[in-house]
Amino acid sequence: MKDFKGKIVFVSGGASGAGLGQAKVFGREGMKVAIGDVREDALENAKKELIAFGIPEQDILPIKVDLTNRESYTACADKIEEVFGGPPHLFIQTAGVNSFGPVEASTFDDFDWVMGVDLFAVVNGLLIFVPRMIKAYAHKTEFWVATTSSGGAFGAGSTCAPYSASKAAVNNLMYSYDEALRPYGSGATVLCPANINSNIGNAEKFRPANLKNTGYHVSEGTMAHLRSIHAQGIDPVELAEILKEGIENERVIVLPDRHPETWIAQMRRNDEVIESYTLTRAERDEWNRKRNEARRKEMEAMFADAGDGKEGGRRMPKGWEVPEGAEAFGHARHDLDWIDPTRK
Ligand code: NAI
Repeated sequence: MKDFKGKIVFVSGGASGAGLGQAKVFGREGMKVAIGDVREDALENAKKELIAFGIPEQDILPIKVDLTNRESYTACADKIEEVFGGPPHLFIQTAGVNSFGPVEASTFDDFDWVMGVDLFAVVNGLLIFVPRMIKAYAHKTEFWVATTSSGGAFGAGSTCAPYSASKAAVNNLMYSYDEALRPYGSGATVLCPANINSNIGNAEKFRPANLKNTGYHVSEGTMAHLRSIHAQGIDPVELAEILKEGIENERVIVLPDRHPETWIAQMRRNDEVIESYTLTRAERDEWNRKRNEARRKEMEAMFADAGDGKEGGRRMPKGWEVPEGAEAFGHARHDLDWIDPTRK
């Protein structure tokens, strides 16, 4: 898709972070911009930011929507057609949440919340929007489907399992959609960032009341720690420009990073999963030892010019400092008595 002017874009999670950056960049291309988010106050602020960015007020449509609720998401699609006269030509699903803790400490609420937003809401969106887009635009005009996934899609982690599982599934879905949409003259792009300067570090604050029972240790301190990491991430507008280039050039995967080597290492993990997980445990321990040593050297070389920020003895990029009062994240709630002490 190369021609954006005068067309309609919908961005889920468009009130904040990566989604707001996408709304700005595609709005600047002359698109009518619908943004959907569950947080009404954030939508109001986003509208003001978009106007300040130069997007005409009449081209901005903020919609309050809970993407995990099919009726609500359907009403959002109806609203876009009612106000802008048709479904989006560019459909970007970017809303997401994260929560860190040992997978063996997880509750149903942890999985329901993270997979509900990061995977099943994406499925909701695809089923609600794609048929409308095909009917309206196939062989008539350009249209495209995009999703913001994560570098987490390429690996696994014992303290971010619901997130990684969701993102891996989302990537896989987008590969399928790219193939499926070909006959209609369209395709799909999946954006896989590493770290974004966004508000996702605060996600736990907005966990729905009915999904609050977490098995993870979450506190103001763990959120402060996460915020300090995300503050080092890529700027959302810069990220959206990279996504735009990917859509224009029909890339299926977009790997935006200031250090492309990181991504080569990430992508290798797909092969590594098969290579290492088929070994015996003893062989795998030795394989991991060698792999970690090689990766440590790669990281040292990569960040050689990046400064001397430190975290837990690891070399980190310049300015990446753990703020006062921060607490390690990714641990279990202290009262769970079956959890290994190192994971509490
Ligand atoms: P953010 O927190 O700034 O924005 C996410 C938005 O999604 C929020 O405004 C939130 O209200 C909205 N949202 C959450 N649940 C919703 C629901 N049920 N219905 C409607 N809206 C909902 O976070 P960020 O970082 O901009 O996240 C965007 C995407 O980028 C996510 O999919 C995330 O997984 C992904 N990502 C983020 C990275 C990072 O370092 N921040 C790295 C890699 C991927």
